[in-house]
Amino acid sequence: MTRVLNVWWGGEHVGQLTQDRHGELGFTYSEAWLDRPDAPPLSVSLPKRREPFSRRECRPFFSGLLPEESQREAVAQVLGVSRANDFALLDRLGGDVAGALQLLPPDEKLRDESGPFTPRALDDERLAQILTALPARPLLAGEEGLRLSLAGAQAKLPVVLVDGAIALPAPGQPTTHILKPPIARFPATTENEAFIMGLARAVGLEVAPVEARSVQNRPFLLVQRYDRVVDGGSVRRIHQEDFCQALGVPPETKYAAEGGPGFRECFGLLRRVAARPAVDVLKLLDAAIFNLIVGNADAHGKNFSLLYDVPGPRLAPLYDLLSTIAYPELSAKLAMKIGRRATLEELDARAWAAFAADAGLGLPLVRRRMRDLASRVEQQARSTAEQLVSPGLDRDALERLVDAVKRRALVAAASVKTSA
Ligand SMILES: Nc1ncnc2c1ncn2[C@@H]1O[C@H](COP(=O)(O)OP(=O)(O)OP(=O)(O)O)[C@@H](O)[C@H]1O
Ligand SMILES: [Mg+2]
Repeated sequence: MTRVLNVWWGGEHVGQLTQDRHGELGFTYSEAWLDRPDAPPLSVSLPKRREPFSRRECRPFFSGLLPEESQREAVAQVLGVSRANDFALLDRLGGDVAGALQLLPPDEKLRDESGPFTPRALDDERLAQILTALPARPLLAGEEGLRLSLAGAQAKLPVVLVDGAIALPAPGQPTTHILKPPIARFPATTENEAFIMGLARAVGLEVAPVEARSVQNRPFLLVQRYDRVVDGGSVRRIHQEDFCQALGVPPETKYAAEGGPGFRECFGLLRRVAARPAVDVLKLLDAAIFNLIVGNADAHGKNFSLLYDVPGPRLAPLYDLLSTIAYPELSAKLAMKIGRRATLEELDARAWAAFAADAGLGLPLVRRRMRDLASRVEQQARSTAEQLVSPGLDRDALERLVDAVKRRALVAAASVKTSA
């Protein structure tokens, strides 16, 4: 028997995700969606056509909506399904995902995006319990009324706010924020991500707004979703997909070293699909330089996205920025190399020339952006950290991060100097 999940976008039926009796995944656009000239494809990797898409063709997009690595393992365990069974996971989690889609079983009625909804408020005790529970129970999977999914290897929970307080969404309600608990294995990840995201904003990059909060003395990060628009009292979902989904790369090979996109492919994607490629190419250039300066080695193809808002596809605000080099246990090698070089220390004029060629940009422009961003990081690092300091947060960790990014800014600026 073939099993079916209906794919919905803003109240319209886009098509069906299927799993046949051999367990194979497939996707077919609905006639109505194909017939509407203004109806966009779900993904750059799934252009509108009558013929069904095979597992190989549609899996990067659909599997790419699900949690990854140990979070996928844990969620599969909680739900009692196989971690390799994308369909079963989407069946249980696909009610609210990254972007505009909702994936629902045929017997489930689509709820009007505009509500009314009755979210469940969380008191401090329950919120603290959830922070503890999330790593073993990603996305609170299995909790009555919740069907939420987001990619990524770290614990998280999509939520809504009621008068500023965190609440669990009602069934069908679009979530507006993402709660990220600290990563137990690494110290001060909340401080780290809040600081690096704040610093990116302070130097002029477009980033998702974040807030470091704490409950019962435990810090956590609250990220505002850029794929949701608050329209009066109601919330609309805006479509997005990450670069791996757009390029047809499955989540297991998101790193460039294993087949995922590198800078050449990422810049190429923006040039092909962005409504204003010249603007977005410069934004990606700034992101690459900033990540290098702050020591974010984990900027792989699922940490950049396309946002499909008006007037057309564009690079989504940046997210998941943290200084990974603060943790010696993590690889210091950049997820995407800069001209065949994977660490700041190895970078030289030749590497920058190769990177500029990959990006399709002039080397003088790349060098100018580097010098400019390095000096802004130096100027803004301390004040950004000072604005964050609050009773629940680790002040010493912030101090160390400020020193580290300022040191790296000097080295990075020196790396674009032409040798005599
Ligand atoms: N502010 C945001 N608005 C909308 N979607 C977001 C936002 N931040 C993250 N996402 C989506 O959620 C996914 C997971 O978030 P994030 O990258 O922060 O998690 P992570 O588990 O830390 O990732 P990784 O495995 O790369 O460490 C992203 O790939 C993106 O699709
Ligand atoms: Mg991520």
